[in-house]
Amino acid sequence: MLPSLLLVDDDLGLTQALTLSLAPDYTVKAVHSGQAALAHLQQEKVDCVLLDIGLPDCDGLKLIKAMRRLVPEMVIIMVTGADEIDDVVRAVKLGAFAYLAKPVNLPLLRRHIKEGLKQQAESVASAPAPGAEASAAPAPLLYESKPLAQALALAARVVERGPTPILICGETGTGKGVLARAIHARSRARHEPFVTVNCAALSRELVESELFGYGRGAFTGARREGRKGRFAQAGSGTIFLDEIGAMPLESQAKLLSVVEDRFFCPVGGDAEIPVAARVIAATNVDLSEAVARGTFRQDLFYRLNPITLEIPPLRKERENILPLARHFLMVFRNLCQSSFTAISPEAEARLRAHSWPGNVRELRNTIERIALLEEGEKIEPRHLFLGGPPPGLRPLPEAADFDSAIRALIRERLKQNGGNVAQAARSLKMAPHKLRYRIKQLGL
Ligand SMILES: Nc1ncnc2c1ncn2[C@@H]1O[C@H](COP(=O)(O)OP(=O)(O)OP(=O)(O)O)[C@@H](O)[C@H]1O
Ligand SMILES: [Mg+2]
Repeated sequence: MLPSLLLVDDDLGLTQALTLSLAPDYTVKAVHSGQAALAHLQQEKVDCVLLDIGLPDCDGLKLIKAMRRLVPEMVIIMVTGADEIDDVVRAVKLGAFAYLAKPVNLPLLRRHIKEGLKQQAESVASAPAPGAEASAAPAPLLYESKPLAQALALAARVVERGPTPILICGETGTGKGVLARAIHARSRARHEPFVTVNCAALSRELVESELFGYGRGAFTGARREGRKGRFAQAGSGTIFLDEIGAMPLESQAKLLSVVEDRFFCPVGGDAEIPVAARVIAATNVDLSEAVARGTFRQDLFYRLNPITLEIPPLRKERENILPLARHFLMVFRNLCQSSFTAISPEAEARLRAHSWPGNVRELRNTIERIALLEEGEKIEPRHLFLGGPPPGLRPLPEAADFDSAIRALIRERLKQNGGNVAQAARSLKMAPHKLRYRIKQLGL
């Protein structure tokens, strides 16, 4: 049986042309509104949907969510106007597999459909046995390296059995945040909130009201109606305490009693509210050392320690480097239509040999930079600037890392070109849609 495609676009000319050219290989059906798309999905099996993000009758992002709820495993490919990059990034987060800018490039579309269906078949094959809960929508941005898969498997067993807290350890950029989210997304609580608290960003005075909220008139300046804390916001979902090693000692005592007794008291109130959320904590400092130094409470450490998921740095498990690099190559090919499809053996050797102090984040940024700024099909050693910004970016001494270097460069070129993105892109030898993607991403 041919795989089934659903085209959702109010442009009748486009859907007719696509139907004609795709019909020999797929069962194609076209509808012209979001409502009609949802109605169709309730009636018929659809393997892949091609969705125009700018439909007149509904918000494309809401439509993706609704579609995902109806058919979680469906491949979603977006078609967008060039100035909807913001939506694209959000769409990809919601689980869209790829996006194409109009006018639609047919060979590229065919390739996306094929790849999407292939990945879908693979993820269905590795889905949990019948009876187990269906896994959450596939997250196309997540790569399950061996350490990540092992950590997820262990976490899944823990999560089944009760509210034990989970501790994630690893250097910066190894994917602790990514792992915490993935644990949540695969748990029974995946439709409940996932709330992140960055403990390093909280002042001593604010930790408690932030975590536990405060009652009416708890202190001068408190809002009259009081405020919900993060534990309350998390409900029966997950509360992710990031950089827990940076939490002030006094607040650690409060947190310990919350984790142990499973209830908390809002500041200035006497109500005891039961904790329903799972606690996942993460740290990039060695907590046992912090205990020895006296900056982390030993009792809290022991309470968090039993289930520890350790993500090794890339340099310690080098066999993960190339699969991750290829994964990011694919992600950015879909996200920003980069022309790169492969990595030369020489470049592979460089990637494997590099020490990756910034771990997966650094690897991702490396591939992303190439996808955005370079042209070509194969990544060669000359495209890689491991351990330093590319030569063209060197004259910017204040730039501590690649992101700030490129931010400064883009800012400068935009200014020189009076804010004209197309001209600035030309001066950077960059395709305009890639520059727009970068501008949005850097929040310029
Ligand atoms: N398994 C993975 N698959 C895809 N992307 C990943 C993976 N692991 C990490 N990344 C990428 O690396 C980036 C950094 O990951 P994350 O923020 O989870 O690291 P972290 O360990 O929390 O770092 P930090 O200690 O600096 O907060 C993510 O934004 C993501 O792009
Ligand atoms: Mg993090």
